[in-house]
Parts: sequence; C-alpha cells; structure tokens
Amino acid sequence: MGRSLLFFVGTRPEIIKAAPVIHSLERRGIPVDLVHVGQHYDRELSRVFLDEFRLPEPVAELGVGSGSHAYQTAETVMRAEEVLGEFLPEAVLAVGDTNAVLGTALACTKLGIPFLHVEAGLRSFDLTMPEEINRRVSDHLAALNFAPTARAVENLLNEGIPPSKVRLTGNTVVDAVHTMLPAARERSKILRKLRIDSSKLTLLVTVHRRENLDRPERLTGIVEALLELDEALVVWPLHPHAARVLRERRLLDDLVRAPHIKVMKPLGYLDFLSLLSASTAVATDSGGVQEEAFTLGVPCAILRDNTERPEIIELGGGLIVGAHPGRIVKAVRDFFYKSSWRRRIRKARNPFGDGRAGERIAEIIAATDLESLQPSSPHFEEGAPVYAALRVGGRVNGMTVSQVQEEFNLTVVAVYDRRGRASYPEPGMTLTAEGVIKVLGERGFVERLRAACGR
Ligand code: UD1
Ligand code: UDP
Repeated sequence: MGRSLLFFVGTRPEIIKAAPVIHSLERRGIPVDLVHVGQHYDRELSRVFLDEFRLPEPVAELGVGSGSHAYQTAETVMRAEEVLGEFLPEAVLAVGDTNAVLGTALACTKLGIPFLHVEAGLRSFDLTMPEEINRRVSDHLAALNFAPTARAVENLLNEGIPPSKVRLTGNTVVDAVHTMLPAARERSKILRKLRIDSSKLTLLVTVHRRENLDRPERLTGIVEALLELDEALVVWPLHPHAARVLRERRLLDDLVRAPHIKVMKPLGYLDFLSLLSASTAVATDSGGVQEEAFTLGVPCAILRDNTERPEIIELGGGLIVGAHPGRIVKAVRDFFYKSSWRRRIRKARNPFGDGRAGERIAEIIAATDLESLQPSSPHFEEGAPVYAALRVGGRVNGMTVSQVQEEFNLTVVAVYDRRGRASYPEPGMTLTAEGVIKVLGERGFVERLRAACGR
C-alpha cells in the first residue's frame, strides 16, 4: 500500500524516540521521511543521533533554532506549513512535548493533515512547565494518540479525548534502550576512559530544564549537592544551555576544580547508555533519562518538584528531590548504600513498556485508513452532543462497546465497574449490568440508549 508519512523531529530526545518507529515502519515496507525542525542544531544534540540510529537523511530542514517559546513555536508552524504544502503527506508523526512538536501539531491540524502523536498523555499537572502546555495542546489536536502507559491513557480519556483516538503502545525509549545496549556495551569506550567499574560509586547527572537553569537558587542547590557527594565519581555531560548558565553564574569553575566531578560535553547515545547502565545512581531533570534509568535498574533522583512519569515513584524506583542540596544528597546516599532500591526496580514490571512500542505503532498505522483520520465536520441536528452516564441494563446488558456505538450512534467514552473504577472502552468489551457507561452523543440517541437500558 502506498503511504506518504513524514516524521518531524526537533530535538535530541525526539530523534532517539522516533528511531524505533521509523525502523519498524521501514521493516513493514511503509516509507517514512524525516523532517528536522532544527530546534536542536549542535552536532552533539542532533547529527550524532541521526548517525548512531542510522536514520535516513531528513528530506527537509526547517532550521528553527533557539529563541523564546513564541518564536520557536511560531517559526515551526510557518516553516512546517511550507514543507507540508510541498510534500502533502497522508499523515505526520511527532514524539514528545517540545515547542517543535507543538508547532508541528498546529501546522498539520490547520491544514487538515492527520497528526499522530507518539508519547501522548503524559501529565505533570504543572502549567508553569512549557512542556505541559505543549502536551495538552498536541494531544487534543492529534488524530491518533500513542500513549506509552496505562496512566497516560487515563489522562487522555479524563480530558474527554475519545477512546477511538487513543492506543496504548508503550514508550519507544524502551525499544531504543533494548536495541542499542548491546552495541553500547561492545563499542563504547567511556567506562574505560573514566575508569568506572562496579567497585566504585558513580553518579550520573543531567540538567537542562529551564526551571533549574532560570532560577539561580536551584542551580546553586544542585551544584552544592554534587560538591558534597565526594565519595563518588560524579559525571555530568553538560547540555549547552546548562554549560552557558553555569559559566555565567561562575559555578563551572567550582565543578571543574572538584577532583571527584567530571563535567563533559553531551555524550552520544552509545556512550550515554553505557555510562547510565554502569552508574550506581542518576540525578536528572530529564524525562527520557528517568525512563531509561528505570529500564536499566538504576535509581533516580528527580531534580524537579513533580514528574509526568509518576510510575517511577510509585514503583519505588526513585524520589522527587527538587533542587534542595540536603534532599539531593540524602536521596543519592540512600541509593548508594541501600541495595533495596535496585532490587525493587529489577523486580518491577517496566511500566514504560516491553521494547515493542515501535512495532505496535507501525502495526496500527499499517492497519489504519489514514484518510479516515482527516478532520471532518460532524453533522449535529441538535447543534452539539451531550455527555451522559447510564447504568447498564435491559438489552444493553451483554452488548459490546462497538455494538452500542453502532446501534445508538454514540461514543462510549468510559466504562466504570461496580467500584467506580474507569476502564478503557475496548470495542470488544462486553457491558454488564453492574457497570456504568459514559457516552457522548446527541440527546435523542442518548434517550434511546437510556430506554434500551430499561431506565
Ligand atoms: C528542549 C525542550 C525540552 C526537551 C529538551 C531536550 C522545549 C520547551 N524544551 O529544551 O522539552 O526536554 O529540548 O533536550 O521545547 N542550545 C544550543 N545548541 C542547540 C540547541 C540549544 O546551544 O543545538 C542552547 C541555546 O542557548 C538555547 C538553549 O540551549 O537557547 C535552550 O534550547 P531550547 O531548544 O530552547 O530548549 P532545551 O532546553 O534544549
Ligand atoms: N542523552 C544522551 N547524551 C547525553 C544526555 C542525554 O544521549 O549526554 C539522551 C538520553 O539517553 C535520553 C535523551 O538524551 O534518551 C534525553 O534527552 P533530554 O534529557 O535532553 O530531554 P528530555 O528527555 O528531558 O526531553
């Protein structure tokens, strides 16, 4: 089947998380071209990953670069619009929550091109975070949301996104780790270079979020903690933004002078994975690194006040420590000296997936008529639909979700069990008299369903 798909990537983690989807589509013979938005442009934040993951050369480079949120978003929309007009793709994919993703989602939807959002449904519930704004808007615009976790599915459904636009796939970062780890172990020389072995304590650090870089007391707090943790080797590959701010605030010299701290340029994926898998603990404000740490069994101190990956905390794989030096040091020492952290992570099922997310996404795309995903105008005699919650009964007892949807011309938004727990309304799910269903549709159809339920 002929398909024309574009995958838009803009930053380092997007390239890493896009790669498994692109390779899975290619394995199925579904062509997909890469468009690089250029939010990240330095070699070590971009080119290195295209090469390591053996991705095709981008067919277009938008060259958006750095700037304010408005600038990056608006430039992406305008430049994406041109490229979309030129390539006229059947659908566009993007992953994550950067300004590049938000711009892509807006440009596609305004042009009526289905936007397929990988890693949809994460929520920190913190609107001071630029990424939270980007996620919320992108998810609502998407024609299909590939949610990485059950929690992400729940978030999307709770915001009223119809289940037909939501699929649970796992996070493609787990695929990336599984595929690249053998090569990392074989080819990376970073452990030898840094003389890291299992007898030594090693703390890997990454910091790039604006909340930590823009607020001087937070960055100082993090640096203070690292200076105190001198029983370990502390390795910090610096995002260029962090490097610039540390230099401006005269904190970089303190780090360079400390014999136990090694600051370095950003690492390629093989080196980073190799280092992370050999580390005793990690301290980070990165989303991807939190997921990779859990996947590799490494406890994680999250240098933030909240996380859109709460599974890590719930399963005992890490702690929220903010940027307070005392809390960072205490958590990291706990990770260093209590083996229960590692044991717990290793025993838990990885909530981020099984390494087959890319395959699932490709399978769904292969089975989907992309044209049917184009936004279209619904016709509502009553002007607009209503929501209603109905107890299942009468002849509806025993019907499946899809039978109800077809016969009554309604969308089943959620199914609640006797205890009020919501579950994803799979089309084949059988409705029973104990449950309650939440539906969306025109009032006349809702009333017909109510009557069929015997109410
Ligand atoms: C962006 C994303 C963030 C993601 C991160 C991945 C937003 C709002 N933020 O943050 O969600 O986690 O990418 O790493 O979209 N810079 C360079 N070279 C580059 C790119 C940036 O030196 O190639 C410097 C510039 O000084 C720039 C600063 O880093 O102003 C910030 O870059 P930007 O892309 O705006 O945000 P990130 O912090 O990278
Ligand atoms: N990463 C890397 N080299 C580094 C730091 C991070 O390859 O020096 C990888 C890391 O393995 C993860 C991704 O970059 O997959 C995370 O990117 P980042 O922290 O920039 O963004 P976030 O995940 O927070 O959006």
